[in-house]
Amino acid sequence: MEHTMRNALGEAVRAAHTQIPADIRCAADYERHAIHHIEAQAWQHIQSGADQNLTLSHNRAALDALRLVPQPVADLRHAHTRIELLGQTLASPLLLAPVAYQRLVHPEGELATVRAAMALQTGMVVSTLSSFTLEEIAQAGQAAATEMGHSTPRWFQLYMQPAREHSLQLIRRAEAAGYTAIVWTVDASIKRSGFALPHGVEAANLRGMPSTQHTPPLLGPILFGTPLMQQIPTWDDLRWLRAQTQLPIIVKGILSPAQAQQAVDLGADALIVSNHGGRVLDGVVSPIEVLPAIAQAVQGQVPLLLDSGVRHGTDVVKALALGASAALIGRPQLYALATAGLVGVAHLLHLLRAELELTMAQLGCATVADITPAVLWQQR
Ligand code: FNR
Repeated sequence: MEHTMRNALGEAVRAAHTQIPADIRCAADYERHAIHHIEAQAWQHIQSGADQNLTLSHNRAALDALRLVPQPVADLRHAHTRIELLGQTLASPLLLAPVAYQRLVHPEGELATVRAAMALQTGMVVSTLSSFTLEEIAQAGQAAATEMGHSTPRWFQLYMQPAREHSLQLIRRAEAAGYTAIVWTVDASIKRSGFALPHGVEAANLRGMPSTQHTPPLLGPILFGTPLMQQIPTWDDLRWLRAQTQLPIIVKGILSPAQAQQAVDLGADALIVSNHGGRVLDGVVSPIEVLPAIAQAVQGQVPLLLDSGVRHGTDVVKALALGASAALIGRPQLYALATAGLVGVAHLLHLLRAELELTMAQLGCATVADITPAVLWQQR
């Protein structure tokens, strides 16, 4: 008897639509659809935060608590959303965060995502744990960008491997495949995860390399004194990384002003202020709350990016108002990919861009540089 895959509602998993569902009006609507298209355990894995989901829900609450002040009288005839970041031009200050194993939700996985991102001129960060190889993703992205007649940056997210030679191999492969920055993620080397990958989904980039262990065993030493401790990043790793590549290095997973400063001192070219979408440690502060303090600490020496909880164009504007140069979305790309594949991701990005432009227009911001703290209501 054929095994039917069930979604979290107990129904058979639905195949992705080939068209955009008619009732999707804003980017956040994709989540409601996605549950029907994703197998139950994968859904749980994607949705979950650490422990009690305190941080997961706080990420949204902290963004929701900020209020915008419209300035509807403005000259917007030359308005645009373009930004320059690390010497690269982006059509808008919104990027796709690295999200592992995208074949979990759609057979075309990262290949569909990158095609949609490149078609919509949206920067994409490809995970070390992608389910197609970084070369396959680069090729698909390049073909889409060429077809559209423009180029958009693709960055490679690095999880350091237990052996430096393997990390170095990944860096060299990323350079050779045309990725234009290395995003070094520091906040997820130790996390609890009981999720087992289903048959047919693998860390395609890591074939032939020993697997890293993230989850402590139930018996015996827990963390301290175990080899897991060797996976915790150190500043030496950043020094090492800086010496290996000419590409810009972006450190992802910074929430502390002191560590932000340290990373900059050691040569980081940008930081992503992130709590990994609330997935690693419950009870941690939300990026939007610490962003002003981090901006204060780094004094404009490097651009700051932000993710965790971004779901709407207004969230992007809130992040920029408090000191970010750009924002990234994580889970929403999976929601759109599961719901309608490439078309879904493209539509999601279009909606977010539309939301961003509408917000900027209402706030009287002709360019991203006009998004200052003045667009936020300050309780006095
Ligand atoms: C992630 N994230 C992540 N980050 C990273 O640096 N490398 C990775 O491989 C992954 N993989 C991954 C898988 C899944 C299923 C999720 C939900 C997240 C974290 C991601 O880049 C980003 O920081 C968060 O997803 C941002 O929060 P939101 O937008 O999901 O709320």
